[in-house]
Parts: sequence; structure tokens; C-alpha cells
Amino acid sequence: MTRDIDRRKFLKAGLAGMAVGGVSLPAAVKGAAESSKKIREFHFTAYPASVGLGNGPEFKAWTYNGKIPGPEIRVKEGEIIRVVLKNELPEPTTIHWHGIPLQNAMDGVPGVTQDPVPPKGTFTYEFVAKPAGTFFYHSHCGYQLDQGLYGLLVIEPARERLSYDQEYSLMLEDWVMKDHGGIARIMRRPPLGPRNRNFMDGRVMGGDKKLGEKEPLLEPYYDSYAVNGKIVPAIDPIRVKKGDLVRLRIVNASSATNYDLRLANHELFITHTDGNPVRPQQVDILRIGMGERYDVAFRANKPGRWLLAARDTGLGESQIRIPVIYDGISQGKSIPPMFWPNFEVSTVYDLEALEPVGPPEQKKDQYFRQVLQWASEIPHWTINGYGYPKTENLTVRKGEWAHIEYYNHSPMPHPMHLHGHFFRIVNLNMSPEYWIKKDTFLFDAHETVHVEFLADNPGRWFHHCHNLYHMVDGMANEVVYKQT
Ligand code: C2O
Ligand code: CU
Repeated sequence: MTRDIDRRKFLKAGLAGMAVGGVSLPAAVKGAAESSKKIREFHFTAYPASVGLGNGPEFKAWTYNGKIPGPEIRVKEGEIIRVVLKNELPEPTTIHWHGIPLQNAMDGVPGVTQDPVPPKGTFTYEFVAKPAGTFFYHSHCGYQLDQGLYGLLVIEPARERLSYDQEYSLMLEDWVMKDHGGIARIMRRPPLGPRNRNFMDGRVMGGDKKLGEKEPLLEPYYDSYAVNGKIVPAIDPIRVKKGDLVRLRIVNASSATNYDLRLANHELFITHTDGNPVRPQQVDILRIGMGERYDVAFRANKPGRWLLAARDTGLGESQIRIPVIYDGISQGKSIPPMFWPNFEVSTVYDLEALEPVGPPEQKKDQYFRQVLQWASEIPHWTINGYGYPKTENLTVRKGEWAHIEYYNHSPMPHPMHLHGHFFRIVNLNMSPEYWIKKDTFLFDAHETVHVEFLADNPGRWFHHCHNLYHMVDGMANEVVYKQT
């Protein structure tokens, strides 16, 4: 798609005018915002609690403050987030602030940036909320993410670029409605996805294994897919008025599910990815990998009752259906979107940064190659043939650009996530200052992708596949800084 067409579509949808060009604050305002540094304090207790997903059985999940998802953190850019974590779980735990380039000691990776917080222990996380955007937080210990330990984290900008009439946050979650969620003793998916159901038949019966064995778990067969802790038909509707500009902050907090999303009868525009603003881009079907975030906007100009549907890309049916209901339309069935095969699935190569990132050219003298691969022995999921902690680290020098070539030599997609930095996706169709910034990127099966990042945040940073089962299995390494 050319930029002109996108621009025209955007005008048509009535979102134009506010879309292009940055809003720069007067220096005085900026100064004030910087110096205020208000502390926002939150108290989280992690403990097992009985929960339900609005429909279906109650079961025991691992929670922050007894809820799934955990409490929402919503602050202004530049404020200080302080979270006092108390661990009432039977196991050690940590919290990771996914996507935020904070100081290393607060990153929450056990054995890498901190000792895990033992049962009955406490730990205080404190960091500056920067930059603005849609983030989330989650435990970084073992399979705890898939047991319920995660929540939304939104950093609002000092000044919003578009003025939205409505804003909703949608956290997409895959669930097993049994005690302990995804690690419950249930059937496991074969490692190479549903299409290879027969390939590893012996191991599919992972449900018979005793938990706590050293062998990593395979992905579960999920029995439910939730939005903000609720499944169909209990999912809270999105309520709009005709003419509203609606923003949706979409977070994929799932442990082992990628989704395709589509909204019936409205044009959806991507406005941000992983918190970073992009030139608004219309999408037919939005694909979102584990750990990724997309902010999208639509103009409510078709009164009625509709559905925003999301389907597991591996299964192909819409397990998640969110009603979109206009004011005054109280009757009738909600109309689902169609997923026609000729619809385009969104790709990051259609996106460009809203504002140029400069200076684009700097010496890039660190090159890495990361081959993502399946092995038939344990670890199954490897980088360059090894599983963490045997994988090689990526050693960078402060102030230099690091360039990574990823080769996905496996038949599965992998959402690769880098802590502590945003990387830029090399896109030969546009000039480098418009390459988008992300912290998690869904690599398609057999895809090759190049990214680069500025090594500007010293420490030890985890770098891994955000499919939790692949991560625990070994698809991880660390970015470390060379001492100078
Ligand atoms: Cu969302 Cu290493 O994590
Ligand atoms: Cu993976």
C-alpha cells in the first residue's frame, strides 16, 4: 500500500488532521513535567485464589491481589512507579515490566537481574514511567505467567496526540480452567502445532507427567480464551456513540497463543505498536503475537451491534467475541466479522514510525546471527543450537548499534522479545529513520528478519521467545554489555 492511499483512507474514516506530525510541547511545560516526579505507589500481594472467568467453573489461579488480570497500573509519563510486592505463593516469584526500558536492577528476571522473592518475602520495584505507551507486567518465574500473574500497565503521555472519545483496554489470555491454569495435568499440544498432531504422539500425553519433573512442559490444550479475565458470553462489551473515535489498547498476555483480530463493518487503524506511535495504518486483520501490543482506533460510524473477534491462529475459529454496542441499540444479535481468505493480515512492514528517529546513521559494528530452531531432544527450542543457559550471549558495547539477523528455521512462529531496549525493524522499503520500534516481534515460520538496536542501557538483559513454553524450554539468551 502506498502512503497516499493510506492517507486517503484515514481521511475517509475521519481520523485525519490529528494524525500527522508531532505535537511538541513548549520547553517550559516539558521542564515542569520532568521535575514533578510524582510517586505512584501500588501494593501487590501474589497468592493463589479462587477465580472464575465469568462463565464456567471456579478454579485456583495464581493472582495479584486475588484478581485476574492483576490490578491495572495507569500513570502519567515521567511519574515514578513504585510497586511493593509481597509473595504469598508457595514458590519464589518476581515481576517483569514488559517493554519498559528501565534500569537493569528493576527488570525482574530471576537469576539475571535479581534473586527471586522467596515465599513470605517482599521486594520493592521502583522506576520512572517512560516512555508513554501500552505495556503489561507479569511474573518472570517458570510458568507463573500461565497461572494468572499478569496485568495491564498504561503510561499516558503528557499530551495525547488524538482526542479519543472512548478508550478500552483488551488483554487477551489463554486459559485452562483447572487449578493452576496452564500447568494443570492435562493433555499437551504436540510441539509442532496442531497440523503435526501425529508427529510426536508419545509426548502429547504430557498430562500424565508429574509436575515438578525436570523435563519442560509442552504447551497445553487451552479450554478457554478470555478478555480481561472473562470468556464468552461474559466478556464486557465496548459501548460507543455514533461519531465516537474509539481507542483500543490490545495486549496479548497469552502464554502460547497468537491471535488474528477483526472488527465487523468498521475500518480499524493501527496507531501504535508496543507503545510506539506509527503512521495510522488501516488493517483488515490484525495479527498479534504473545507479548506484543497494538493500539488501534476506529470511528464509530455504523450504528448497530457488532463483534470484534479474535481467533487462535493455530485453530482458526473465533474463540473471543467482544460485543461492540452503539448507544440506543438495545435489541438484536451482534454481527460477527468475516475472515475471508483474501483479507490481508497485518504485517509490520506496512508500518512506519510517526516521527523520524534520528540520527539514522551511526556506526554499526556488532553483528549477530540468531537461528531459531527445533531439536528433537531436550531442549526442543533452541537458539543457534543451544538452550538457555547454554546459549551464547550477545555481547554489546555501550553507545554502539547492534544488528541481529534472525533466521526462523522452524515450522512455528516465535515472538522474540528483548528486555531493556526497543529494536528497530529493518525495512528495505523505506528510509531508515522511519523504521518502527518494537520490543517483541512475531517471526513467522521460516522467516528471516533483521533488527537493530542502540546499546544504551547497560546491564544483563533477557532475550527470548515469548511463548512461555519455548522460553522455559530454553529459547533464550542474554544481551550483556562489555566492560570498557
Ligand atoms: Cu514479557 Cu522476558 O518477558
Ligand atoms: Cu518460540
